[in-house]
Amino acid sequence: MTQIKNIGVYTSGGDAPGMNAAIRAVVRSAIYYGIDVTGIRRGYDGMIKGDMFPMDRKSVSNIIQRGGTILKTARSEQFRTPEGRKQAYENLKANNVDALVGIGGDGTFTGAHIFGLEYDIPVVGLPGTIDNDLCGTDFTIGYDTAINTVIDAVDKIRDTAESHDRLFIVEVMGRDSGLIALRTGIAAGAEAILIPESKTDLQSVFDRLERDRKDKKSKIIMLAENGVAGDAFEVGRQIKEKFPNYDTRVSILGHIQRGGRPSCMDRVLASRVGVAAVEALRDGHRNEMIGLIHNEIAYTPFEHALKHNVEINPDFLKIVEILAI
Ligand code: F6P
Repeated sequence: MTQIKNIGVYTSGGDAPGMNAAIRAVVRSAIYYGIDVTGIRRGYDGMIKGDMFPMDRKSVSNIIQRGGTILKTARSEQFRTPEGRKQAYENLKANNVDALVGIGGDGTFTGAHIFGLEYDIPVVGLPGTIDNDLCGTDFTIGYDTAINTVIDAVDKIRDTAESHDRLFIVEVMGRDSGLIALRTGIAAGAEAILIPESKTDLQSVFDRLERDRKDKKSKIIMLAENGVAGDAFEVGRQIKEKFPNYDTRVSILGHIQRGGRPSCMDRVLASRVGVAAVEALRDGHRNEMIGLIHNEIAYTPFEHALKHNVEINPDFLKIVEILAI
């Protein structure tokens, strides 16, 4: 058992629904085990500025149901520099913080990985991003809420698509990952999806529209942002040019995907990995992300958790193709 006295907790990168439930779990389980907790505001920026405060069980009352993050979040440029990280370490020492739990995604863990190698401070991470683009967990905190927000929106868009016989290109988030588009494409009954990871290019969408030309009806095409085919407006422009018979519209869902009350799945996931993170630090873990694989707590070294290791399940693409006949 490692003697940890004070855990610093922070959220970093894009906010995700369920981050508050994760903060609550870390704070409450640390207190349960007799460990002090320090809240760090705005992720690595707050570490560098020394923006930290002691947290108690009441600091996390009434937040489990709230989206966003009470600790606020940021993407820190300064933490990328050795000077920034040195300043962060000195501030942690000055505040008696001797272990860290970082909640975030790829950028958060890249920073945590370097920091954990440079300085003798145990750091563990919780997967908090709507993108689900991390290895070492079946789902990230925020993904379930985000995909439910997306299908709710697409169901509404489909009402108009059906009523007007329109084709909609719906662009969803994911930075450079198509996992939101893929799953919501299946759930919303999309006719086609365009994601960066697959070979599905615009030509295959054109082929499909060509086949359906005579049987013209409403259509939903799900598009992940940052795809090779361009953004939703570019895809829409090309479709309009080739198929003027389709009444085409573009809908970009944007940041509504990041907000809102976390789903039950996200709250439970956040609570489980939050408690496990504190227990992992007590057990001497460091430089690992704490996730859930097959419903069991899983520990993955930061460098393996990063998104370039994530693969798309080809069965999902096949399902879209089969069900869209
Ligand atoms: O990583 C989460 C995410 O929402 C991505 O899906 C998206 O590309 C990015 O953040 C948007 O970031 P920002 O809110 O900084 O524009």
